[in-house]
Amino acid sequence: MTYTTKLKAFVLFAGLWHFNAAAQKAPQLGKNSIDDVINAMTVEEKASMLIGSEMFGPTLEGNPRLSVPGAAGATFPIKRLGIPPTVLADGPAGLRIQPTRDNDKNTYYATAFPVGTALASTWNIQLIEQVGKAIGNEVKEYGADVLLAPAVNIHRNPLNGRNFEYYSEDPLISGEIAAAYIAGVQANGVGTSIKHFAANSQETNRLSINEHISERAMREIYLRGFEIAIKKAQPWTVMSSYNKINGVYTSASTDLLNTILREEWGYKGFVMSDWFGGYEGFENLDKLSSNVVAQLTAGNDLLMPGTRPQYDNIVAAIKSGALSKETVHRDIKRILQMVVQSPAFKKYKFSNKPDLKANAQITRQAATEGMVLLKNDNNILPYKNKATAIAVFGTTSYNFITGGTGSGDVNEAYSISLLQGLTNAGYKPEEKLQSIYMPYVESEAKKEITRREKEGGILAFPKRMEELELSNDLLLQSAKSCDIALITIGRNSGENTDRQIYNDFYLAQDEVQLINHVSKVFHAQGKKVVVVLNVGGAIETSSWKDKVDGILLAWQPGQEGGNSVVDVLSGNVNPSGKLTMTLPVDYNNHPSAANWLGTPVGNPKSVLYEEGIYVGYRYFNTFGVKPSYEFGYGKSYTNFTFSDVTLSSPTFQKQITVSVKVTNIGAVAGKQVVQLYLAAPALKTDKPESELKAFAKTKILAPGESQVITLVLNAKELASFVEAQDAWVAEAGTYTVKIGASSLDIKATKSFTLNAEQVVEKTHDTFKADTDLKVLKSN
Ligand code: BGC
Repeated sequence: MTYTTKLKAFVLFAGLWHFNAAAQKAPQLGKNSIDDVINAMTVEEKASMLIGSEMFGPTLEGNPRLSVPGAAGATFPIKRLGIPPTVLADGPAGLRIQPTRDNDKNTYYATAFPVGTALASTWNIQLIEQVGKAIGNEVKEYGADVLLAPAVNIHRNPLNGRNFEYYSEDPLISGEIAAAYIAGVQANGVGTSIKHFAANSQETNRLSINEHISERAMREIYLRGFEIAIKKAQPWTVMSSYNKINGVYTSASTDLLNTILREEWGYKGFVMSDWFGGYEGFENLDKLSSNVVAQLTAGNDLLMPGTRPQYDNIVAAIKSGALSKETVHRDIKRILQMVVQSPAFKKYKFSNKPDLKANAQITRQAATEGMVLLKNDNNILPYKNKATAIAVFGTTSYNFITGGTGSGDVNEAYSISLLQGLTNAGYKPEEKLQSIYMPYVESEAKKEITRREKEGGILAFPKRMEELELSNDLLLQSAKSCDIALITIGRNSGENTDRQIYNDFYLAQDEVQLINHVSKVFHAQGKKVVVVLNVGGAIETSSWKDKVDGILLAWQPGQEGGNSVVDVLSGNVNPSGKLTMTLPVDYNNHPSAANWLGTPVGNPKSVLYEEGIYVGYRYFNTFGVKPSYEFGYGKSYTNFTFSDVTLSSPTFQKQITVSVKVTNIGAVAGKQVVQLYLAAPALKTDKPESELKAFAKTKILAPGESQVITLVLNAKELASFVEAQDAWVAEAGTYTVKIGASSLDIKATKSFTLNAEQVVEKTHDTFKADTDLKVLKSN
């Protein structure tokens, strides 16, 4: 990162850290009130508290708290006032720090957990909380204070390069998973930073893109997940995003950071900017910027990672009065309220020895539970035959992708490929194929590392490894000696760049060729073919799914990936993951495809969210567009029935409870997800056909066993956001509760009525339009 080097060259505020004559008398954080501590600060100290400090490293030299190489940043210390620095580190799939250090034989590996899409696909709140606990423990034991996660932006379009870090196209599942993750991490006494607030839907021109979004889409789709997670789990910090919404940077948006986050949602923590957020582009870093006043005034309390021009601007703005005394005091107070909770302030003696073995078990289990069985013709899976060899195809089988790139990457000690996973479980991967694939994969992987180092390090977009062309003879030999073929299709992506339609969302020609060829030869021998998708987000499946017998969507499953896949393939674990996004037949089926990335094409400045609230299944199911696999879909090795659906009342008062009995009627134990979709009356306001309003996962049900699941609907779940009224309004009329095994596989319905319209929540008028938006409607 060139900007890092550049910033490291800045002159530093050495004086702040050194002994000050006033030290003896100065108020101390923890002993005196936060207000007194702030009041004792000089203008320069105040300015430094409002920006991050990690990139000014030398000032902090010798401070043990900052010996966490690879952390993303830190808050500024003022020793004379008893303020320690606190360390902020990425990111969603585990703690991102440097695994080795100069002149140090110890290693500092963190556990690579499954990516966001994989975690969300578990639909298992308790499990995610456990994952959060494990990640938070690594944060604490490696000496960091705040984890820069979870990331809960909505999958507006399948091509967003960071969808793998995010959870879903649906705000409810995003918010609930995020809440569990935050609760788990923070149970360790460390903080989180829910990000990127908000509508950070694309990587292309992310630092400057202006997104035109209706207030309704903001409230119902892009903010709702944040709202759920923030209200439920109170993350210590929030990270604003890079983009603009209706002409205003999110980091300078009073609507977003003050009116909605603080006034309406009651949030008490502090907001930090994304790294260099709010300045059009890194090339402007030296010039910045009067924008600091707008950001700090709007309630973006901390500017990360902190730069010299920001500091100079803040000092000048405080002196001129452009930045009010109250704003400065308020922002610093919020930051210090976090600092006093931190392990750094409590002088926690971190061990640098988290229990990586125990955490490997947790990541293995979470990855397994997030895998989605898309297809399983003639119950080809589970596959238990360990006596006959398995033909393993696809470069990714030998070089499994644990997670995406960029700040969401984790430096893990090892990763288990599918090949290793099979071997570990006692299967026999065919040797001839190994001898062909391994040298190719090893040399290509080395080339890729060198290329990425040259082209921007963690921000360089990962390149797909091309498939080998295999001879007919080789395939025939394999098909004769093996019972089954596994083909892994891999995809990787990351921060700074979006995915491509061709050779990425759609399979590349070499992959199509591989699937065609293997299927033809194996099927001619009466042998089966299973595809494993080692991907971070949606991929096209409809053109090739009929050619194979089984498809397992394994996601990017973290460091235990190969073992997790084999846990499912073998039947050691019965799959119970469900899609949290639609897999469309065609990329263009998504309404956002019409204006994805924005205009002017090639270097977009502005993008119209004209699909409004019709994102993902809300669009497909309302407009009758058939997907390849729908939202909520996922198969099991057993079957379940849903019965005895009961509502607590035929009319809605303050709340309604819905109970349903789930029974395992198959031969093996398994878990099932109950999904509650609600169809609301739409006489006054245009609405989706139905929306996910509650869900729960059963425990493991033995064959024949039942569990009664109870779900609760509050008034807010009945309401839609009505812009003309600045309110969430529940329309009077009949509401239909649809209990489904997916958004299209509805097993039972029951209705209740709301006798009179209810204004559930009054809000403020926010996100004033800066252009004419023709928002999609269903009628
Ligand atoms: C990313 C954030 C990340 C930060 C610090 C930014 O580029 O957008 O998600 O937390 O860097 O690494």
